[in-house]
Amino acid sequence: MKNAILVTGGAGYIGSKLSYELLDKKKKVVIIDNLSTGSRKLLPKKAVFIKSDLNDEAQLRKVFDKYKIETVFHMAACTDVRESMINPAKYYLNNVEATRRLLEASKNKIKKLVFSSTCAVYDVNKKNIVSENDQILPKSVYGLTKYLSEKLIKNYSSIHNFNYAILRYFNVAGCDEQNRTGFVKRGPLFNNIAKNLAKNKSEINIYGNKFPTIDGTAIRDYIFIEDLVKYHLDILKKIKNKSYLLNLGYGKGFSVNEVVDEFQKYHNKRIKKNYLKQRKGEMSKIISNNKKLKYLTGQKIPKDILYKMVITSLNWAKKIK
Ligand SMILES: NC(=O)c1ccc[n+]([C@@H]2O[C@H](COP(=O)([O-])OP(=O)(O)OC[C@H]3O[C@@H](n4cnc5c(N)ncnc54)[C@H](O)[C@@H]3O)[C@@H](O)[C@H]2O)c1
Repeated sequence: MKNAILVTGGAGYIGSKLSYELLDKKKKVVIIDNLSTGSRKLLPKKAVFIKSDLNDEAQLRKVFDKYKIETVFHMAACTDVRESMINPAKYYLNNVEATRRLLEASKNKIKKLVFSSTCAVYDVNKKNIVSENDQILPKSVYGLTKYLSEKLIKNYSSIHNFNYAILRYFNVAGCDEQNRTGFVKRGPLFNNIAKNLAKNKSEINIYGNKFPTIDGTAIRDYIFIEDLVKYHLDILKKIKNKSYLLNLGYGKGFSVNEVVDEFQKYHNKRIKKNYLKQRKGEMSKIISNNKKLKYLTGQKIPKDILYKMVITSLNWAKKIK
């Protein structure tokens, strides 16, 4: 197999969806994943799967040579903000050092690299709506490891002659519309509610209802995974002699209550909202300034976007319950 595309973290929530999409477009896909939070169940059958850790540099070199890889989507990472504060060393090793090894193994071989970064890099104390050139001040070790990875990518790109797109995702939600892949882990709001409802547990814990927002619950810029992945492919086409740094969001948000109320429409019992103390360091609202993304992709946001994120989450949760 020649000129395959490498997806690191392709057994995870976003990586598996991207891999399906690339295969649908007849691309050859190689996935490297250590299955730490991903699952074999999410892997598309047509992809080549190599179970390996990114810190195994010798294995990485073999993969680059064998499959003549020129394009990399680097999605593998540990992503739990709270865990990163308890065990920072794990995050430096798994996110920063693993990125450095990936860059070492791929240098002078690849032409394009797309990196999954996060809005957790921004200084959220100052502004609720953040642009790409706003101040960087991650509150968590997770956010910091993503920012350090961005720096490494820029540095290697300037020396080793490849172009990149650093994509700062806001809150990714919803699942594959064909119900082939989705989330396995709990944590994000949509996953938690969908999993509860699929198990007929009609309740949800909500952390904080005294935020300075329309209804007191936190507001996030949720982006539908179908759109997120489509933007990856649009942007990949644009990376030729240029690199990009982009927010991936809709530039508008939904409150936790609004999300729960949308789920309520498709559930036959009343969903009990358990309001708990807000978590330490939790921000009230974060929204993307998505001007650059709109300009590059002609982004249009359908009116029923919340419905789509909710219904695909429910369909997936019912399938895997
Ligand atoms: N889900 C979101 O809302 C969101 C928001 C912002 C950024 N991101 C970023 O998007 C990427 C994908 O996130 P996700 O939600 O799909 O998470 P996920 O946990 O479902 O996927 C990550 C995958 O990477 C694998 N992995 C982790 N460390 C590895 C290593 N050292 N070597 C090999 N494989 C490894 C895991 O097994 C897993 O399959 C991450 O980089 C994350 O930081 C996600």
